[in-house]
Amino acid sequence: MNESNLANAERHAGTHVIVMNGGPLNLLARQLRAAILRELDAAAADPDCRAVVLVGGARAFSAGADLVEMDTPDSLADPCLHLTLIETIEAMDVPVVAAIHGSALGGGLELALGCHYRIATPDSLLGLPEITLGLMPGAGGTQRLPRAIGMEPALNLILEGRTFRADTAPEGLIDRVVKSDLREAALAFAAEVAGKRPMPRLRDVRLPSDNVQGFMQFVRNAVSRDPRRLPGLRPIVDSVERAALEPADRGLVAEYAAFGRLRSDAATRPFRHAFLAERRAFTIDGLSPDARPRPLRQAAVIGAGAMGQGIAIALAEAGFEVRLMDRSTQVVERAIDAAEQSWDRAVQRGRLRAEDRAALTGRLVVAASYDYLREADIAIEAVVEDMAVKHEVFTALDAVLKPGAILATNTSALDVNAIAGVTSRPGDVVGLHFFNPANVMKLLEIVRADATSDEALATSMVLARRLGKVAVVARVCDGFIGNRMVEQYIRQAQFLVEEGATPAQVDRALEGWGMAMGPFRMLDLAGNDVTALVRQRRAIEMPQMIYPTLPDLILSRGWLGQKTAKGWYDYPPGSRKPVENRDLLPLIEAHSASLGVERRKIGAEEIIERCLLALVNEGAAILAEGVAQRPSDIDVVYLNGYGFPRHRGGPMLWAETLGLVSAVRKMRRFALNPHGDPAFWEPHHLLLERAEGLQSLFDGEAA
Ligand code: NAI
Repeated sequence: MNESNLANAERHAGTHVIVMNGGPLNLLARQLRAAILRELDAAAADPDCRAVVLVGGARAFSAGADLVEMDTPDSLADPCLHLTLIETIEAMDVPVVAAIHGSALGGGLELALGCHYRIATPDSLLGLPEITLGLMPGAGGTQRLPRAIGMEPALNLILEGRTFRADTAPEGLIDRVVKSDLREAALAFAAEVAGKRPMPRLRDVRLPSDNVQGFMQFVRNAVSRDPRRLPGLRPIVDSVERAALEPADRGLVAEYAAFGRLRSDAATRPFRHAFLAERRAFTIDGLSPDARPRPLRQAAVIGAGAMGQGIAIALAEAGFEVRLMDRSTQVVERAIDAAEQSWDRAVQRGRLRAEDRAALTGRLVVAASYDYLREADIAIEAVVEDMAVKHEVFTALDAVLKPGAILATNTSALDVNAIAGVTSRPGDVVGLHFFNPANVMKLLEIVRADATSDEALATSMVLARRLGKVAVVARVCDGFIGNRMVEQYIRQAQFLVEEGATPAQVDRALEGWGMAMGPFRMLDLAGNDVTALVRQRRAIEMPQMIYPTLPDLILSRGWLGQKTAKGWYDYPPGSRKPVENRDLLPLIEAHSASLGVERRKIGAEEIIERCLLALVNEGAAILAEGVAQRPSDIDVVYLNGYGFPRHRGGPMLWAETLGLVSAVRKMRRFALNPHGDPAFWEPHHLLLERAEGLQSLFDGEAA
């Protein structure tokens, strides 16, 4: 876009209305900043100008910095936001009114805080979410927000990175919430304040400074967590403290310096990678631009077990009318009762508003037979993982559902092409792979079968957004992206135990590295019988793949995990907290001896590298086969579905951080270990090519 179109001013009597037109979200990239500055200068030069209104053109005032620009020199280049733009506004001889709609986030809110006045529509989203990107506000947020609303509320908002509606904004932030037309209200407001002097400037506000250091020390103690997980945390506390102790000039300079240090610190890159990756994941390659999502109002869920219940809750909470079906209505009634009780508890705990709770009643109802599903716009099947049963269900759905309805399966591993094949409308069939618990976990794998239509995919993406999920598209294969990779990760974890580690050591190493839950705790949670099914399938389909035999021994003891209070760990009655399973170590030692393996001491580094590089090597295969569209999609799956730490950015970014040349060399070294599966450690050709070409896995990903 030509810079001259990015901002333009409309003149109404003595008011210049500067309209920002930098794309739908008005990201404050260099060109837009320059265009706004030009209009500010024009207003300053106009002797008839008595006030300025700054307003967003498209969907938002401004959603802040352009993260794609963030890691390039343009991000801080002249004219910069923190100095040139905001200080120009503050120095104007006439008042500047920020008129906010859509969102004012991050740099967008900082720009508004630099204006003399702020008015907003009630549903505008406000906030300083920089901490979630590994950063801190860098254009005055830590200096002006405390001066607007007070130290403590400002500190809370910045540390949480929370966004909130303008009509719930803390006092002092928004001068007027306007329900009527924003531009007209802004003009009226500008006329009211045009003659008022002195003009309010947040930088001039003096905050009370007594007890600030004591309070801040208390905050530092309270938030002293692992600094890698939130690099912005300490610098934010230091910077907000300065707002109370030092004049704004000094505080702003120090804030900007701290921001610059964070921005160039490699440890903060993964956060931006994760943010951009999650947005990119919603883009489906090769989708026809004409593919229109179909309207979705009523949903059917078939199977009211663990998954079906969670899916039904998620749908109801997102405003769908949900019809839930199972083999008997009693099963469904129990599931609905459980959902109602969980909503009541949420109200008691203040996590759900009473009026929202009331709206949920009646949204989730029993479907006594397929006849009750005729009006459904989408049906999601979550019955037992058995192809014969899936066929039976899809045949029945095909017979009753109206034309154009989406038929989705939540299968974890079965062939979605085969499921689609029993219907007369394979174009409408898609996999929607939710994670347990489905109403909590953020990830949704959308499985694109061979015949899935573009419309069905586009509709599934809209569904994901309405459910508040992060969606990733996968092609059909056993385990799709996430579970296919995790199988290799778990296999390594179990080989490590056969070679000398204990399950607790493996879990501790990976949890210490950042994983939310180690592999053995995860196995106990999922149930050791469930993973046994995968091994049985592999023995038939891929007999050449070597599997650790230890898990079969665990299974033969009936140690299924949490559900039997014994698995890789023991679980005291009524507790989900793992304690050592004292019967396990002798069993493991005898097992290693029977394999002829001399147990050795295994360090955390080997544990971490073997488990994670197993993810990376399988991830490369998934990319090469086109099961995942792009490496960042794999990272999104792991960040949102498998407790992968955000500060590591996902397995593929981690491989890049380690270095692909190093990754390949390590795999070759692992291949020398005769135990386990040396052949698995042949680096995938995609990794080899990129390593040898000194290229990145992410080369070619669209910015
Ligand atoms: P579940 O055993 O808890 O529930 C299955 C439900 O389906 C039961 O209530 C059963 O009565 C019902 N059912 C069986 N045959 C039926 C039929 N012909 N018509 C209607 N209802 C029928 O199983 P779960 O764990 O909820 O799994 C369901 C599906 O979700 C499976 O395909 C599974 O692979 C998949 N899945 C499971 C995950 C998990 O962590 N449990 C995660 C992601 C997917």
